[in-house]
Amino acid sequence: MTNRTFTMIKPDATEKGSTGGILQMINEAGFRIVAMKLTHLSAEKAGQFYAVHKERPFYGELVEFMSRGPITAAILEKDNAVEDFRKLIGATNPADAAEGTIRKKYATSIGENAVHGSDSDDNAAIEGDFFFSKLEQF
Ligand code: CMP
Repeated sequence: MTNRTFTMIKPDATEKGSTGGILQMINEAGFRIVAMKLTHLSAEKAGQFYAVHKERPFYGELVEFMSRGPITAAILEKDNAVEDFRKLIGATNPADAAEGTIRKKYATSIGENAVHGSDSDDNAAIEGDFFFSKLEQF
């Protein structure tokens, strides 16, 4: 399944009421939403999701941030989804994000960067399955 990616609209963007604007940018860029939910990660679940970053100095801060409030998790479909979505969201650090990207418009800092996007097809499948059963993926 090379045409799907996974995203989260993070707690900072939820708090600011940016969810609708971000979903509009996602739709206008040609992505189809095939699964979506508003949920609130426990610290334990956020830690599991970002386990790959466990040794990084920012891991504790990341887990605290991601469990601070509700997120919107979604699976998106489009040709070349992983790469095209990473282009749409822009660089991890919003200071480096290109004009017209989601992070340029909505992110605050490298930590509070409004959205997550999978970095590979394999991780897109793993991350989507973390939040959604197969019956919830259309
Ligand atoms: P994301 O694309 O979700 O993947 C890992 C997350 O870790 C990243 O977005 C940021 O939210 C966070 N992150 C990456 N680098 C840093 C950093 N230097 N300081 C704080 N948080 C970071």
